[in-house]
Amino acid sequence: MSAKSPRKVRKVVFPVAGLGTRFLPATKVIPKEMLTVVDKPVIQYAVEEAIEAGIEHFIFVTGRGKNAIEDHFDLAYELEATLKARGKTAEIEILKATRPLFGAASFVRQQEPLGLGHAVWCARDIVGDEPFALTLPDMLIHGKPGCLAQMIETYNNHGGNVVAVEQVPHEHVNRYGVVALGKTFNERTHSITAMVEKPKIEDAPSDLIISGRYVLQPEIFEKLATQKPGAGGEIQLTDSMIALLSEQDFFAYKFDGKTYDCGDKIGYLAANVAYALDRPDIGPQFRPVLDDLMHK
Ligand code: UTP
Repeated sequence: MSAKSPRKVRKVVFPVAGLGTRFLPATKVIPKEMLTVVDKPVIQYAVEEAIEAGIEHFIFVTGRGKNAIEDHFDLAYELEATLKARGKTAEIEILKATRPLFGAASFVRQQEPLGLGHAVWCARDIVGDEPFALTLPDMLIHGKPGCLAQMIETYNNHGGNVVAVEQVPHEHVNRYGVVALGKTFNERTHSITAMVEKPKIEDAPSDLIISGRYVLQPEIFEKLATQKPGAGGEIQLTDSMIALLSEQDFFAYKFDGKTYDCGDKIGYLAANVAYALDRPDIGPQFRPVLDDLMHK
């Protein structure tokens, strides 16, 4: 690994095989990644963020009941033909934005939801021997530029592995992977000296949590191959990153943006309000409606 000329990040992995139990019954038939924030599925925001970051290949680790994700990124031939016949060109353009280039999307199944680390490991053959980005789509990050673009710029400067981090209230640290920082490179970039998944509040090394965006070296797959289940009985990505930490550099990147955890009901509702308010076509009409609701 050379810090001067790190290999280009061309691929992104989206683990989307989780059960989404916190959103039942909505997720009985609909994958949680297909729940919409305003008028776009959560997964599409993640793909657009990756495109903005220069990613060329999109790898979805899916599971049973997740076919809608594959269909969403495919050509909807009959729908487009009908729209064309009706002269609905603007709507056709909206659909075009959902289609990756031919051959630029891959889908692999995680047959059992054994944990995030296991889901990432399922992508090993498609990623191959090159660095890759990893995005947890339900952590929606509102940033300009997007969080992944910021991280890839950091990776291009430093090489190694880069993990997006953000501060949370101390009493929430037991829900996440938590990092301890070492050397400071600039106000947003620090080396990581330790990581722990879902620590007890009193044991957490900081209030900085890993927030769903990573740039990882392919050696992570060697660690994942033998990773034993950790917190919650799941194969945890953080545990394999800890194993790799003694061999490779890990950088924490304090991104510029706001996170909405769309795997959680409150985070999901907040995302809908924030994204609607931010939309020039919807925000001005929505704001008085929201004000009215708030003052009832
Ligand atoms: P979460 O724990 O947030 O997702 O996993 P979940 O298990 O679907 O949600 P709940 O708690 O039951 O409501 C974080 C990410 O990792 C993926 C999920 O799809 C989500 O994007 N994941 C998790 C997998 O792909 N496979 C797994 O075995 C576990």
